[in-house]
Amino acid sequence: MPIVPATAVTIKEAARALARGEIVAFPTETVYGLGANALDGSAVAKIFAAKERPRFNPLIVHVPGLAEAETYGVVNAAARKLAEAFWPGPLSLVLEKRAGARIADLVTAGLDTIALRSPAHPIARALLAEAKLPIAAPSANRSGRVSPTAAAHVAVELDDLPTMILDGGACKLGIESTVVSLVGDAPVLLRLGATPRGEIERVLGQKLSVPAPDAPVASPGQLATHYAPDTKLRLGATSVNPNEALLAFGKDVPKGARITINLSESGDLNEAAAKLFGALRELDQSGASMIAVMPIPDPGLGEAINDRLRRAACGAPPRRASDRS
Ligand code: TXA
Ligand code: MG
Repeated sequence: MPIVPATAVTIKEAARALARGEIVAFPTETVYGLGANALDGSAVAKIFAAKERPRFNPLIVHVPGLAEAETYGVVNAAARKLAEAFWPGPLSLVLEKRAGARIADLVTAGLDTIALRSPAHPIARALLAEAKLPIAAPSANRSGRVSPTAAAHVAVELDDLPTMILDGGACKLGIESTVVSLVGDAPVLLRLGATPRGEIERVLGQKLSVPAPDAPVASPGQLATHYAPDTKLRLGATSVNPNEALLAFGKDVPKGARITINLSESGDLNEAAAKLFGALRELDQSGASMIAVMPIPDPGLGEAINDRLRRAACGAPPRRASDRS
């Protein structure tokens, strides 16, 4: 098993593995990432293979900060404002790719844009500093399934294990970064995430637009079925039956479920986000016929939590490629 505690020594080893073209998993403040040297196309190809990820779905490139972001993307005024306000942190910016950027084409799925993020997690930052490379890293789960928020989740998700899984404990935020595109005239919210929409709008001084429902998929990762466990979800549940597992929120929890996990008894949305994916995994393994999910309020992080739950309710893709008909 390649899980190792993240220490100064193992982080150096992981950086050397990246430089050799291997892939390593590492914690970020949002979820665990599966990283490769973004300048090395054959290293990046290993990520797509390990995740069984469709090649049209581009990856986020992780960098230490704005200075490095500028070598790969065109940082306009709005991008600078957002990076100054939220980096390092859970916000990914889609920018025009800089001409001559040596990023492998596979990273951006052939697009002329690039998603960049400066992660806040000290282990992710130490790895970037040691490797001195831009690190392409999607969430370290099998494509379409629940993102890993602990090192052990990575190991159960992937058949082709990375060279190393740096264990940094549970991810603090537990939900992926917000993705904002600054390529066109108006900033576009491509993915709800751990930086609440309202905070971004406050810094920009304008509303974020959302891609039109009939627009060609602006962020290819935003396909409806995503973040899905095997067990079906029933949203907005106010009562449960004994065959069901209950994902609860708040104090007034209906009794009688086969198993109940409360995302936050006190109604704290940060706590709920941090526990969400781990709780879905646990309830998925409980043998329940259905996961009933109590209503979760929409403000702040609630919007991203509800987005993930709606996608999870659309159902899971097959667990293994060989299961696909
Ligand atoms: O929190 C996170 O963002 C985590 C950690 C590891 O940093 N990463 C993550 O990556 O969630 P991934 O690959 O699971 O999701 C990246 C999202 C996808 O929806 C993808 O389509 C979108 O970002 N994306 C990446 N590059 C893009 C681009 N050039 N244009 C539009 N969308 C892009
Ligand atoms: Mg993902």
